[in-house]
Amino acid sequence: MRILGIETSCDETGVAIYDEQQGLIANQLYSQIEMHADYGGVVPELASRDHIRKTLPLIQEALKEANLTAKEIDGIAYTAGPGLVGALLVGSTIARSLAYAWNVPALGVHHMEGHLLAPMLEENAPEFPFIALLVSGGHTQLVKVDNVGEYELLGESIDDAAGEAFDKTAKLLGLDYPGGAALAKLAQQGTPNRFIFPRPMTDRPGLDFSFSGLKTFAANTINAHLDDEGKLDQQTRCDIAHAFQQAVIDTLIIKCRRALQQTGYQRLVIAGGVSANQQLRQDLAQLMTQLGGEVFYPRPQFCTDNGAMIAYAGFLRLKQGEESSLAVEVKPRWPMTALSPLR
Ligand code: KG4
Ligand code: ZN
Repeated sequence: MRILGIETSCDETGVAIYDEQQGLIANQLYSQIEMHADYGGVVPELASRDHIRKTLPLIQEALKEANLTAKEIDGIAYTAGPGLVGALLVGSTIARSLAYAWNVPALGVHHMEGHLLAPMLEENAPEFPFIALLVSGGHTQLVKVDNVGEYELLGESIDDAAGEAFDKTAKLLGLDYPGGAALAKLAQQGTPNRFIFPRPMTDRPGLDFSFSGLKTFAANTINAHLDDEGKLDQQTRCDIAHAFQQAVIDTLIIKCRRALQQTGYQRLVIAGGVSANQQLRQDLAQLMTQLGGEVFYPRPQFCTDNGAMIAYAGFLRLKQGEESSLAVEVKPRWPMTALSPLR
């Protein structure tokens, strides 16, 4: 079975082909980041229009990359939510129309299930059950995963997502949107412990997160260190980036440790854009060594949005005979716990 996957939930157009025997045989990505950077964030209408321009050419590229014709595709998986409604509608409409024309089944995939299963595309794939830490621009969630579709939400952010907090703090430090990776780069030059940021919600039980206070803490620290011209010296910028990043990472680690201890699970999967953060990976590896468990990640290019994770998640479900109805239906809000277990 060969599945074409289409991702258009936000600011990346991703198209990939997953083959049951050979694994991933095509992967195409177009990022709109530069276009949105001028506006300091994603402009939904521009995102939708750009997906319209890019999706069909990328599908053609993916078929060419895999040396296939449309007739050799057995099903189509597309992101049906959560995400920006206009952007989701573009991918879903194209996917449904092609599926109708090619006479193959199509399935609306949950974007976060795609992220969660992305580590399974790696050679060292995790076995079930595991704890998943999903950290993206829109979500911060700790999920107990017993199998495909068997998810229990253990905790989530009550305000900003981890990636969102990175991006907002990066903006305060004068970095372009989305500034997560650039902030991490600044942090490398930072002096440890010059500033100590709080570790929000770690002094009380539970597995929820809150990151919006860290952005305010960063703003106050920046204001207290501006020179007469209202500027921040480079070392102080790096030191603030370091303190912010370490606070987010420590908070994530404290909650991961709790989730693992609470469930007795020994495998931890981390996915979503923030899982590309090298310091986070290093600190999680250390945690898992202490706990005698193992941590699994997608390769860096599959941490952020991509078509491969959608093709793969869709493949698992289409193979079991699942398919969505002909109507183009998207779900901008869609709790992952509403998904059904794999048949
Ligand atoms: O999963 P993703 O591509 O898109 C969403 O579904 O949201 O995640 C994007 C987020 C952005 O907030 C970006 O700043 C953040 O991931 N990010 C990082 C790093 N690389 C990307 N945050 C911290 N460190 C990084 N190295
Ligand atoms: Zn995502």
